[in-house]
Amino acid sequence: MKIAISGKGGVGKTTLAAAMAWLFAHEDGKKVLAIDADPAPNLAIALGIEGHEDIVPMVEMKELVKERTGATSEEYGKFFKLNPAVADLPERLGVEKDGVRLMVLGAIQRGGGGCACPEGVFLRSMINHIVLQRDEVVVADMEAGVEHLGRASVKGVNALIVVAEPTLTSVEIAHRIKRLASDIGLSSVFAVGNKLQNKEQQDFLEKGLADIPVLGFLSFNPKIPEAGLKGTSVLEDGQLMEEVKGIIRRLKTELSITS
Ligand SMILES: Nc1ncnc2c1ncn2[C@@H]1O[C@H](COP(=O)(O)OP(=O)(O)OP(=O)(O)O)[C@@H](O)[C@H]1O
Ligand SMILES: [Mg+2]
Repeated sequence: MKIAISGKGGVGKTTLAAAMAWLFAHEDGKKVLAIDADPAPNLAIALGIEGHEDIVPMVEMKELVKERTGATSEEYGKFFKLNPAVADLPERLGVEKDGVRLMVLGAIQRGGGGCACPEGVFLRSMINHIVLQRDEVVVADMEAGVEHLGRASVKGVNALIVVAEPTLTSVEIAHRIKRLASDIGLSSVFAVGNKLQNKEQQDFLEKGLADIPVLGFLSFNPKIPEAGLKGTSVLEDGQLMEEVKGIIRRLKTELSITS
């Protein structure tokens, strides 16, 4: 199963990605590859990985990008390889904890992930490899778009989960992401509502998300920002984990997955 998580900034993508990755490993006993493809990566903290402050996003490893593609974007006009070898990198550069292997890819801030520069090509090759050739369960924490997913890798993605909080902007962005996904041929899009404080907010999201099937809702939970302040993992919060278990069950039903 390969899942990508997207949504407006701050809606809870990283929280959901960490909880899902952990549960696939611990409840289902699967090997899990957690991918952080955010320009400001922090999935390592959410997963409680020690030494997270020393992790360098792969896309910022200039030497590596140059070694694999033959250039970096600073060398304007230089030729570079369009399909660099990346298959060894999950093992070499991933950090493992409790059955979850984390790969911090990072993102390209200018020009988007689809940019025709060495870093863009490197990132896309890495994502294609992860989605199309690896047999682990993949949970990818992405930014508010689908730039990372090209037409090739979309074929391997089982579900794009758009996280939304009960605000109009967040719902509008969810629909924009769904449209962008559909433009590249990804139609398996679901939503998760987060930070819910009452039934009105749930109704608002159900109505607003309209044709995007909702896998479930996560309650507003003060323990989550508290963990953020302390820099600790959110995985110890029983309520969050129970709610995310429900979301995974629903996702499996939607995708007709039995194990
Ligand atoms: N259910 C919740 N209840 C209360 N606060 C939450 C909840 N989920 C997430 N948060 C808080 O919302 C903020 C954003 O959460 P998170 O980092 O998971 O979102 P994100 O979508 O990954 O953000 P970004 O776009 O910055 O990567 C954090 O401060 C987090 O503590
Ligand atoms: Mg995040």
